[in-house]
Amino acid sequence: MKQISSIAELRKKITNLKRQGNTIAFVPTMGALHEGHLSLMRLAQEKADKVVVSIYVNPEQFGPNEDFDSYPRQMEDDLKACEAEGVSIVFNPDDEIMYGSGKKYFKIKVDTLNEHMDGGSRPGFFEGITLVVNKLFNIVEPDFAIFGQKDIQQFQILSRMAKEFNHGVELVMAPIARANDGLALSSRNAYLSDQQRKIAPGLYRALKYVEKQIRDGVMEPKLLLNHQQDELEAKGFKNDYLNVFSMETMQPVEELESGNTYILAGAAYLGKTRLIDNIIIDL
Ligand code: PAJ
Repeated sequence: MKQISSIAELRKKITNLKRQGNTIAFVPTMGALHEGHLSLMRLAQEKADKVVVSIYVNPEQFGPNEDFDSYPRQMEDDLKACEAEGVSIVFNPDDEIMYGSGKKYFKIKVDTLNEHMDGGSRPGFFEGITLVVNKLFNIVEPDFAIFGQKDIQQFQILSRMAKEFNHGVELVMAPIARANDGLALSSRNAYLSDQQRKIAPGLYRALKYVEKQIRDGVMEPKLLLNHQQDELEAKGFKNDYLNVFSMETMQPVEELESGNTYILAGAAYLGKTRLIDNIIIDL
């Protein structure tokens, strides 16, 4: 496995791999790797001959009051984990390499897909993500890129971006890796106290409960969702959102119709830690 931080060196190495006839699957991450990230690498192995992982905590996608400084960083452990998964290249640039220090003349603006869910709660979040992933796609030029369903709005926005910007990469969605009690794995789970960790699976349980009601025929789930939010608050969560969204438009939907695909998604805080989770519902 090669660890590379220079763009020129990475390009050279990837060009050589491609010249030898290899296809490339790319797994972008911010490190603090857990089983969820590793499952993406395994899917990448199935898709292509060589796997490239990036580890870069992208400052552009953190708001001024968010956790950029405290975001877990554990490069040595991450490199070992990538090596064990048979990754060919780990790209870990620094801020100077990714962004330089000069004035920037261009930005990417996301249209409507970021109005709700995480985009609604975190202004500038998806502009920061599309910016860095746009750059990473231009640098790596992968055949496949693997992203998790855990961040489903990210997946949908990046799929459209790759299509509209002709990146020539096929995005592949990996299912959500969970702990035994159902909690979606996340680098941010490391912030949870023992007490909070015990409460944390409540978010997924609330989603599962609403999913069952919808599958049993509830087509206007608003009251149900409100009630589950109250229950979560009673358990110690502070709600951000819990709602059903259109998979296509990422807009909230009040009245469900069969034949459509929906995302039942929630975000809630335990203390300062923001948890997100979702279930895809094909009706
Ligand atoms: P990060 O949060 O490190 O996540 C990297 C990838 O792992 C994303 O595609 C995410 O959806 C996936 N992932 C995280 N937890 C998962 C879980 N429990 N099960 C399955 N997949 C999971 O997402 C980012 O980084 C950044 O926004 C990035 C795309 C790297 C751009 O900076």
